[in-house]
Amino acid sequence: MQRRTSIFQIVSTKPLLPESEQELRKSGTYLGWQEEGSPPAAWLMDALADADALLTHGARVDEALLRQAKHLRVVSTPSVGYDHFDIDAMRRHRVVGTHTPGVLDDTVADLAMALMLACARRIVELDGWVRTGRWAKSGTELFGVDVHHRTLGIIGMGRIGQVVAKRAHFGFDMNVLYHSRRRHPEIEQSVPATYLDFDELLQQSDFVVLLCPLTPQTTGLMNAAAFAKMKPSAIFINISRGKTVEEDALFRALESGQIRAAGLDVFVTEPTPVKNPLLKLPNVVAVPHIGSATQVTRDAMESLAVANLVAVLEGRYGQARIVPELRELVSDGDDTAG
Ligand code: DGY
Repeated sequence: MQRRTSIFQIVSTKPLLPESEQELRKSGTYLGWQEEGSPPAAWLMDALADADALLTHGARVDEALLRQAKHLRVVSTPSVGYDHFDIDAMRRHRVVGTHTPGVLDDTVADLAMALMLACARRIVELDGWVRTGRWAKSGTELFGVDVHHRTLGIIGMGRIGQVVAKRAHFGFDMNVLYHSRRRHPEIEQSVPATYLDFDELLQQSDFVVLLCPLTPQTTGLMNAAAFAKMKPSAIFINISRGKTVEEDALFRALESGQIRAAGLDVFVTEPTPVKNPLLKLPNVVAVPHIGSATQVTRDAMESLAVANLVAVLEGRYGQARIVPELRELVSDGDDTAG
């Protein structure tokens, strides 16, 4: 099909930093949603009618969107997770997807440690005691449990999992176990970390930290059967995606004392409704999906997402962090991959 203009048309679903806009304008025309929250579907569909590239902040990229966006070549997300990409539909429409691994690892790993510590030492619950005049005694009712020298089980030993493993071992003298799609011999030696199958990891860990991506295989991974395998003293942390956990099963496990506590950065529905029963439990620490939420890291993610998008538009595929499942779309034309 004949192109309409010689420059690229780029759409963003959120306002961007001035330097990001400036960078995109070097490649073409730029149209960004400038208000709070997500753009209405009608705005997005209209904006995408002639667009070559989309910078999406969670908007689902599916068949319906791709059918409207006939000229789209690349969708870039400023996140490491890309479960909002319908990979099959993107493959059918030959739309490349990029993401931002690497730049957020330390920040997300910090949050994993923060949630482990908060749950173990009951930080949020006891903060409430201080504020509401319940700090009457200083006895065993204020006790928590240790993090140091205990056993951590990491499910999903990707980049972030590896950083958590290092913090846990070198900072807290923890014994690190992991379960992942593949073995990581270098981490097994350097941390060290021990690979176990899923059930064994659940049975042996004092802390279970979920860091795997959301895929059909990991949807509902943490269900009643999984929680039943954990120690009654164990603490569960979810930093992956809400749908990896069956929230009803988690609620029952926490309420019945089948596990000790949970630290949750992600929920099945986000924002999670205030009436979510999990939020009534004192042994739950809940934060609003803030894994990467520091200014420095979010700016780095945006800048990488912009660079990815421009690299794909310019055919410099080897310089773009293309999601693994869609790399086949550019394998023939990759003139920069080293
Ligand atoms: C991501 O980038 O996918 C993380 O969820 C950010 O917190």
